[in-house]
Formats: sequence, C-alpha cells, structure tokens
Amino acid sequence: MLKALREDGFKVTCFERRQQVGGLWAYTPDPSMTTALPSTTALISKYTCGMSDYPMPDKYPSHLTSSQFQEFMESYARHFDLLKDVVFGASVTAAARNEDDTKWRLEMSVDGKGRIEEFDKVAFCHGYQTEARMPSYEGQESFEGILMHAQQFRNAEDFRGKNVIMVGMSSTVSDIINNILPVASKVYMSHRRGGYIIKTWLKGSPADLSVTWRRRQIGAFMQKYLPRLHRWGADTSLKFLMRHSWGKLDPQWRIEPSHSALLSLPGASNSLIPLLKEGKISSLHGIKRFTGPRSVEFTDGTTLDDIDAVICGTGYSANLSVASSFLEHSRPPNYSGPELTRMWMNVFPPKYADSMALLCFSAYGKNNGFSFNDVQAMAVSNIFRGVHPLPPLKTMNAHIDAHHEWLAQRWRIDPLGFQPSSVKTWEFQDFLHDAAGTGMENLGWGWKGWKFFFADPKMSWMMNNGVETAHAFRYFETGKRRTWEGAREAIIKANEAVKIYPLKEKEGKVE
Ligand SMILES: Cc1cc2nc3c(=O)[nH]c(=O)nc-3n(C[C@H](O)[C@H](O)[C@H](O)COP(=O)(O)OP(=O)(O)OC[C@H]3O[C@@H](n4cnc5c(N)ncnc54)[C@H](O)[C@@H]3O)c2cc1C
Ligand SMILES: NC(=O)c1ccc[n+]([C@@H]2O[C@H](COP(=O)([O-])OP(=O)(O)OC[C@H]3O[C@@H](n4cnc5c(N)ncnc54)[C@H](OP(=O)(O)O)[C@@H]3O)[C@@H](O)[C@H]2O)c1
Repeated sequence: MLKALREDGFKVTCFERRQQVGGLWAYTPDPSMTTALPSTTALISKYTCGMSDYPMPDKYPSHLTSSQFQEFMESYARHFDLLKDVVFGASVTAAARNEDDTKWRLEMSVDGKGRIEEFDKVAFCHGYQTEARMPSYEGQESFEGILMHAQQFRNAEDFRGKNVIMVGMSSTVSDIINNILPVASKVYMSHRRGGYIIKTWLKGSPADLSVTWRRRQIGAFMQKYLPRLHRWGADTSLKFLMRHSWGKLDPQWRIEPSHSALLSLPGASNSLIPLLKEGKISSLHGIKRFTGPRSVEFTDGTTLDDIDAVICGTGYSANLSVASSFLEHSRPPNYSGPELTRMWMNVFPPKYADSMALLCFSAYGKNNGFSFNDVQAMAVSNIFRGVHPLPPLKTMNAHIDAHHEWLAQRWRIDPLGFQPSSVKTWEFQDFLHDAAGTGMENLGWGWKGWKFFFADPKMSWMMNNGVETAHAFRYFETGKRRTWEGAREAIIKANEAVKIYPLKEKEGKVE
C-alpha cells in the first residue's frame, strides 16, 4: 500500500508496531501478536504469491518458510526504497476525524510514547488475523492447566511431557501439533464438527497451480448465476479430492461430512490426517466444559482427567477497534447473528470512502493472500486520487444493506462457521480489478478477450490457463496504473519454471 500510494504521488508514512517489515511473517516473540512460527511454511507456492512487479527470486523452494517470506518482503521494501517512510515500533490505537472534520487524527504509541498526527487519507492494513478468537467454556476457572489461544504459542518445550488438547482442525492446529508432537506426552485434536482438510500438493505439483485465471472466472460465473449448483459442484469436487488425497477416513474421526467450503474456508494440512492414521494424535469431540483442575468433558459425554494444556487454534479476526469512532453497524431483518459492520465493498466506510480504507477486514474473496494485496492497494490509491469514481453515498448504503441481507442468508445456513467479512467473490474481485485498472478483462470472453487472443494467442492462453502469477496485474496498459516492463518475461518464466512438475510422490511425500 505504501508503494502504491507513493507511486501515485501521495506523500506517505507507514506506522508499524513491529521492528521489521513482513507482517505476521516477521516472527515476534510477543505473544499478543499473531506470528508465523519459524516452522511455518507458506501454503501457496512461490509461483502464485510474488508481488506484481517484483518476482520471487529463483533461490527459494516451492513453498517459502516464514523467514524466507520475511526476507522476500524485506528485499521488496529495500528494492522500492520503502523503509525510509516506515516508522517502526509505532502502534496506532485510534483514528477519528479532527474537530473541523477536515482530516484524520491518528493516536499512536511510538516506542511507548503517545503521539497524535493528522493525515488527509488513511489506509489500515494491519492484518485480518490480528485478534485471537478465543472460545469461553463453562467451568474453565476450575482448570489448573494451561488454557491459551494458539496466538500465544511460541515454544514447544513448554509442553514437554504434557497431555495436550488442540482445539480446532485447521492449519494453525496442524502447525502447532507438528511442533509439540516430539516432546508432548499425548496430543489430542478436539473438533466440534467435520471439515475439509486439503493438501498443499496435488499429484506431485503445488496444489495452487491447479487454479487458473480461467477456472476462477468460470467459478465466479457459476457463483453469480448458479449459486446452488456451484456450491454442490465445489463441495463434490472437494469430497473427491479428500478421497483422492487421503483414501478412506475412519468415521470415528468425524472429518466427514464437512460444512460447505463456500461458507467457511477449508483447512490446509499435509500432516493431520497421516498423524491420525498413524495413531500419533487422537480425535476428540468438541469441548463441552471443564470439570476440574485437569478434567475436560466433551460433547459426546466422555471425560479426560489428565489434561495439562488446552491450546485453542480457533482462528482470528480483524481488530477494528482503531476505527470504532466512525464505523457504523447494523443488522438486517430476521437476523440475530453478530452485528454487521457497514463498509462498502468490505473496505470503505461509506461516509469517508474517499479518504479511509480498511483492508484489515476481509479474508475472503481474494485469489490469494499475498499478490491480491497489490490489486487492493492499486484500487484504493485510484479511489483516493479520484481516478476511479465512487458511487453516491445513497447507492453505497443500499449496496451495504443488500450485502448484509446476503450475509444473513449465509448465517442462517451455517451460524457456527459464519464469517461476517465474507464477500461475493465475483463482485469483490470485479470491483477491485476495475478500480485498480489491471485490464484483466482482456482475458475474458468479451470482445477485448477475443482481440487479445487473436493478437497474441500464446500469451492469452498462458495468462488464462497457465500459472496465476501477479505479474498479469501489471501486463495490460490501461492508463489507470503503472505497467511493469518485466511482466511478459516474468509470466513466461513462471510458466517455464513449473514444467518440472509433477514430481514423483513416494510414500505420501513429494520428492
Ligand atoms: C500463521 C499464518 C500463516 C498464514 N499462511 C498463509 C499462507 O500460506 N498463504 C496465504 O495466502 N495466507 C496465509 N496467511 C494469511 C495472512 O494473513 C497473509 O499471509 C498475510 O500475512 C496478510 O498480510 P497483511 O499485510 O494483510 O497482514 P499481516 O501480515 O497480519 O500484517 C499486518 C501488520 O500490521 C501490524 N499492526 C497490527 N496492528 C497494528 C497497529 N495497531 N499499529 C501498527 N501496526 C499494526 C502488524 O504488526 C503486522 O506487521 C497466514 C496467516 C497466518 C496467521
Ligand atoms: N502457512 C501455514 O502453514 C499456516 C499456518 C497457520 C495458519 N495459516 C492460515 O492462517 C489463517 C488462520 O488459520 P487458523 O487455523 O488459525 O484458523 P481457521 O482456519 O479459522 O480455523 C479455525 C479452526 O477452529 C475451529 N473453531 C473455530 N471456532 C471454534 C470454537 N469456538 N470451538 C471449537 N472449534 C472452533 C474451526 O472449525 P469449525 O468452525 O468448522 O468448527 C477450525 O477448525 C488461515 O488463513 C490459515 O490458512 C497458515
């Protein structure tokens, strides 16, 4: 965001509470911050998660470790000379309009000292996995063991010789289990329902390589016009994928049936199911309550009386408290789920859409966590500088009301997994690409798509059906954002590089 805004002529300052760039990929021992662990490896491959005008160096393996990611972001920041505009050790605590409602007043703590500064425009990019989502249980005060959220986990040694329950069945749980398994006495995985668990490798290739721009467009078309068929198709494909990846699953593990992957995202783990199969971890029902200093009762009525630690890998949410002075909330009719935040396109508080963007809300609707940030940044910058027009306030509010009604329908189907930051992918992506001016309509089925196809069939095919690299976002000249002269070569290179796949799979491991 800093780079995009600066490139478009803004004078920008970035406040970062850590001491280095890289976001949650910059490991911190501070247990109040979400961090990737030293053992964390990216779920998506380097081919699909580079930045639009800064390719991944060849030296990295297919899936980067957290320290490699931090290094990549650091090199990006140095390459574009961004560090000079970053204030490290600066934690923003609140944003509000100044007295005459002309500027944004930011309150922050810089190296422990309070500071207030005023700005014309503000973009919050402080992560959508900032706040730990911690369940509360009946009787938990009677438990004398460790009860914590995964956000606080740092050191496996703290669990040496202990009987540990991990709550949840997703990537964080998998990450922590892999850390503690060699030292813990017994490890359980407690999950309240089933869910898809997908591998990061598919038939010897990084799984994300199977998603192409064209497939994504077909999915978006179906989601828009044939939502039920799309949900059925997506869930049926995932069921086949589960069967293909893992073979027969023991019904006692209750991994199947899963809730729909279109209502809450599937987890990714290469190890959870093999560990269940090998008997190295055991599956438990959801926790009902704590019944004593070391006792936990589960929803199926069983009780364990020798538990030393419970770690909740129950996910994260955004921290919108910094925006509490101006964010509005509402509830649609016949809906009693959590209050819904009024943000147009999940990003802009409608009244201040030309000067405030909150990119810390939506984990959904992105094609992947990294490169899509580039598209968002270009879109916000174009809106802030007036290159892309905003609809009238009334239209934005009507859109939010309709969106909340759509959210309410999802909540009615799956209140347990309900994610208030969900978006209609087709709408969200179309809007952001249009605002960013990426020119991706040149890969579509309209006249522009055909024109590009006839002018450069090889490139059109590669961009539609080959590796989904972020360099495509800087390929087409649209006049709305800067193109990158290296984009063509980088797209061709990425497609050449993946020709080494599929690799051989041996005993479940990819070689
Ligand atoms: C353990 C883990 C692994 C993940 N793995 C993947 C993956 O493999 N693939 C994928 O696509 N996505 C993954 N994700 C999703 C992840 O959100 C993205 O990878 C990416 O980090 C999002 O970038 P971001 O800049 O939006 O947020 P973050 O990386 O969270 O960065 C936000 C930054 O804001 C700072 N900050 C927060 N609050 C304040 C404040 N009040 N004042 C000042 N600074 C503040 C934080 O210190 C941090 O540096 C993972 C998430 C987690 C939790
Ligand atoms: N690269 C990596 O290796 C890596 C590692 C860690 C995390 N990540 C990423 O980080 C993000 C967060 O992942 P995450 O695993 O922390 O969270 P998550 O994907 O949101 O999963 C949370 C898990 O907790 C369960 N859960 C939620 N609330 C619960 C409750 N009250 N009681 C019991 N179970 C509950 C959920 O299942 P139900 O709601 O279905 O019951 C789910 O299994 C994801 O984007 C993930 O991909 C990546």
